[in-house]
This record gives sequence, C-alpha cells and structure tokens, in this order.
Amino acid sequence: MTTNIHPALGEAARAFLSREHQLLIDGRMIASDGGRRTEILDPATGEVIATVVEATASDVDRAVAAARGALEGAWRKVTPAERTRMMLRFAGLIEANADELAQLECINSGKPLPFCRNGDVPGIVEMLRYMAGWTTKMGGETPNVSLPGEWHAYTLREPVGVVGQIIPWNFPLNMAMWKIAPALAAGCAVVMKPSEQTPLTALRLGELALEAGIPPGVLNIVTGFGHPVGSALAAHPGVDKVAFTGSGETGRRILQAASGNLKRVSLELGGKSPVIVFPDANLEAAAAGVCSSIFFHAGQICAAGSRLYVHERAYEPMLELIAKRANGMKMGHGLDAGTDMGPVISRRQLDRVAGYIHSGQEEGATLYAGGGASGERGFFVQPTVLTGVKPGMKVHDEEIFGPVLCAMSFDDDDLDRIAATANASTYGLAASIWTKDIGRAHKMARRMQAGIVNVNALSSPDATLPYGGYKQSGWGRERGFEAIELYTEVKAVAINLNN
Ligand code: NAI
Ligand code: MG
Repeated sequence: MTTNIHPALGEAARAFLSREHQLLIDGRMIASDGGRRTEILDPATGEVIATVVEATASDVDRAVAAARGALEGAWRKVTPAERTRMMLRFAGLIEANADELAQLECINSGKPLPFCRNGDVPGIVEMLRYMAGWTTKMGGETPNVSLPGEWHAYTLREPVGVVGQIIPWNFPLNMAMWKIAPALAAGCAVVMKPSEQTPLTALRLGELALEAGIPPGVLNIVTGFGHPVGSALAAHPGVDKVAFTGSGETGRRILQAASGNLKRVSLELGGKSPVIVFPDANLEAAAAGVCSSIFFHAGQICAAGSRLYVHERAYEPMLELIAKRANGMKMGHGLDAGTDMGPVISRRQLDRVAGYIHSGQEEGATLYAGGGASGERGFFVQPTVLTGVKPGMKVHDEEIFGPVLCAMSFDDDDLDRIAATANASTYGLAASIWTKDIGRAHKMARRMQAGIVNVNALSSPDATLPYGGYKQSGWGRERGFEAIELYTEVKAVAINLNN
C-alpha cells in the first residue's frame, strides 16, 4: 500500500501512514461497528497512501455519547486556567511534531511542503495559543438593570455543549484547528468529522490532544463520508451545535438536518471574491497577491480572489504581469523542492474545474493563460486566466475552486458603481482593494458586501481577525472572539435583593 510513496517523506510520517488507522472515540483508537475502509490518495500521483475507517451512524452515536460523558464529567471539572495549560501543551506538541504534520498535510492535500511547514502548522499553533488565552477571559458582565427595587444581575458565558464539526479537504489542519481551538477554549466537547479525502492530520491532532492531557472524550475524531457520518452528526439529537465548512449545497443539507433539535449552526461556505485594482496601485504587488491567492493551493481556497476587476488604464500591464507569473509556475509534487503549485484534490475536482474552463470558453470568455488538465498522473490543472468574462456566465457566478482567474476591466471612477459590480454575487466572503489612495481604500472597504476586506493584500491570516461571510458565504465568524461566541451560550441571571 505505501510502497510508492514519495521518497522525501520522513520516518515519522511514513510510520504514521502505515498504521492501521481507527476511530478516536473516548480517548481510545477503536474499530468501527461496520468494518469498511476508505482509500486515501496522494493527489499528486493518484496512489493510495493509507486507508481509514469508513464509520457508521452507530459509531457517531458512540462518539456523541463519549463527548457527552466528558462534557458532564472530567472536562467540566477542569478549571479555565488548567484548560489554558492543556491547550498550550497541545500547541507545544504540534510544534514538536511539526515536520511530520506538515509532511502528512502535504502528501494528502497536495499543497507544497513549504506552505504546510511555514504556513499551516505555525498557523494552527498560533490559533491554539490565541484561543487558549480566552479561557480565563471570557467571563460575563454585570448589566446596570433599571428594574424596580434593588437587583443584582449578571451574565454567564457557558459552553454550548457537544459540538459536531464537519470540515473539508482544502486545509485539513487549519480547518480542524479553527474549529477545535475555540471549542476547547469554551469548554465544549467535540466530535469531528474530517473530509473523507484528507482525514490523516485530524487523527494525528486527536492523538496529540490526548498526549497533552486533554481528557478522553473531549475530542473525538470519526472518519468517513458526508453520508452517513456528517449527516448523522448534523441530525443527532445529542449534538448541541454543528459547525461546517464546505459547499453551499452541503451547508443547506446540514441546516435541514439540524432543524430537528434546532441545534446551533455555523457555516463557512466559500465565495467568489472580487479583487479591485485601481490605476494608482502597486501593480507588481497586486499581481503577486492575485497569483498567490488564486493559484496557491491550486485555487482551492474559500476566500480565493477569483474575480479580478482592473481599471482600464492598468488592465493590460496587470494581465501581462499575472500571465507571466502563471506561465512561470512550476507544478509538481508538494514534496519536490521548487514546486509552486500542487494538484487539486481528486479526479472529480479536476473534472469539475476543467469543465468550468470549458464552459467559460463556450459562453464567450477568452483563454489568456493556462487552459486545462496537465501531466500524465495526479490531478493537475494549469494556472488559468480567462478574460472577457461577464455576469451570467457560470465561471463568473459560481465558485470554481480551482486555479482559474476571471479577469475583467472597468472604466469608471464612481465608487458606488464599481462596488455594485463587485458585489453582484450571491457570495460575500472576502474582497481585496488595491490603491494607494487611503480615502478611496476606506470608502471601498465600507461599500463591499463581504465579511473580510483586505487592502493592498489578498489575505490576512491572523487568529484575532474574525473570518466568515455575508450573504450565501455562510453564518457566523470563526477566529477572534467571535469564534468563542459561536461555542458559548449566554445566560442572564437576575436576583431581586428585596425578597
Ligand atoms: P462538501 O461540502 O460536500 O464536503 C465538505 C465536508 O462535508 C466533507 O467532510 C464531507 O464529507 C461533508 N459532507 C458531505 N455531504 C454531507 C452531508 N450530507 N451531511 C454532512 N456532511 C456532509 O464539498 P465537496 O463535495 O468536497 O466539494 C464540492 C465543492 O464545494 C467544491 O468544488 C467547492 O466549490 C466547494 N467547497 C468549498 C469549501 C470551502 O472552504 N468553502 C471546501 C470544500 C468544498
Ligand atoms: Mg459534496
């Protein structure tokens, strides 16, 4: 099974891959009720690198029961300060195993190793440390009530309870930690379902959490498919909240499933994020930013800047800069030195993305760079730029989730009209504005219908900054204190001091 794996993979990662992976429930690796297994691929080669358990709905029942047991038992007795210490130990263990985690993330997600080692792993360590600080600081308030007589009133911030977390394949480590860290900080117990395509690093994180002293049952990892595992979690009467990142279609299913017990729901559903470049912008920096956003990780980024709007006066030079970068990108295995861009996650995703590029051309767009699948093995798509894109075309309106940039120009100076064009999307996750005019930058930031606005940057990966979308990009905000709010309930207590 693991005979053909990439030679650059280190000993620890190799040993992990060759294990007989199980489900992590109640602090132990246990077998499934079912017994079926799923093959896990290296998307750069299409080869099988491991197999994991295909869990069943009754495995989900066991995991939810374990989480409930921990929530009402050992976990509740852990003081906030001790929770902080456990989370900091967890962060330290991730650092100590950084190479192994980065290599596993690379070989399973396809992302180049330097991004995994210098981006994903330090990013999740920061997220844990940041959230660990909130445990002792998320107290309630003493509102000044105006009720007749004398009252003492206060609010308590309590864990929302047992949380189901369902995550996608594009950033397996980050998506796991964006959900685990605030849930732990808030005192919740978790049942996480990683993507059926990229479950490996979540399993490893679950082990490290135990090693850090986080009590058994607090973090359970159940591998398997959207149905039955994800759907069972979303519908489960013993789950108090479900947090999801992925497609809008699955998000809607989760909402319906969650309606049974009206569990809390948070959703991060991707986007079609505009990048607006004014003629005074630093075009070199803007081109580099655009390329890193839409081609980095082969465009499989929810906030990828996928619709580019450049002022007419800067359009030609900007496109030339982008095409030069796109054509110069080295595609390859994430573990090969010098790889700029890896594959997309699967054959299905490759076909999806190639289908979009084809449909764009059929609907009248012009291929400016790239154009389709690449290489004899693995799931590679060339960095692609389409020009002449118009609203109503599928490539304009829908999330492609591949390395495909839709470029458009504008000849207007009216900020309201420019913003209206950029806002003409059912999505509203992110927007990026490029200008040196500070007034224009702030005015545009206010006009964008997006949860995240970056000025003279394409991304701002920081644990303090709330992340989430307007419109159909989702419900709620991850990162920052807003993430703590997602995992807590507020209780108002009022005491009539006269009775
Ligand atoms: P998906 O949304 O179906 O999968 C994401 C997660 O949801 C996986 O863990 C999956 O097992 C789970 N899931 C699937 N069906 C479920 C159900 N009925 N109930 C509960 N959980 C379920 O995404 P998919 O099909 O892998 O990708 C399709 C498209 O979705 C992509 O091309 C992209 O446009 C978008 N997407 C967006 C992401 C984002 O970060 N916003 C991430 C992944 C996909
Ligand atoms: Mg799906």
